[in-house]
Amino acid sequence: MKIAIGADHGGVELKRALVAAMRAQGHDVTDHGTDGTASVDYPDFAAPVTAAVQAGADFGVLVCGSGIGMCMAANRVPGIRAAVLHNATEARLTRAHNNANIACFGGRTTGVEVALDALAAFLATPFEGGRHERRIAKLDTP
Ligand code: RB5
Repeated sequence: MKIAIGADHGGVELKRALVAAMRAQGHDVTDHGTDGTASVDYPDFAAPVTAAVQAGADFGVLVCGSGIGMCMAANRVPGIRAAVLHNATEARLTRAHNNANIACFGGRTTGVEVALDALAAFLATPFEGGRHERRIAKLDTP
């Protein structure tokens, strides 16, 4: 799958692990940075990832200290449904019920193994459609 990923300084370390795992699984991953620990602003790194998803990438992944700022930034963008994930159950449910297209993680709140399990569940779970289609359509109704 085609996957765009970005992080701020609070998420850069977890991002490295997620990128390595996804590439090892054969995904086509575009890493939009940041690449170091210098302090940066998370909306600047959410923007290219949301743009990539709008442009047709299968999924986005965003990592900051808590995952929350990235999730807030992403969900302001039309067509984006982002969720902060702390475990594989949340990952499975947000794909199945919310058709989430961006997974957000907290580099300061979620361990690497737990995040990897959640990401694997996120990428593997299809949207159930049906009644959930009607509900997500209402998210975009003014
Ligand atoms: C950066 O210190 C921190 O605020 C950011 O990574 C994120 O957790 C915000 O939601």
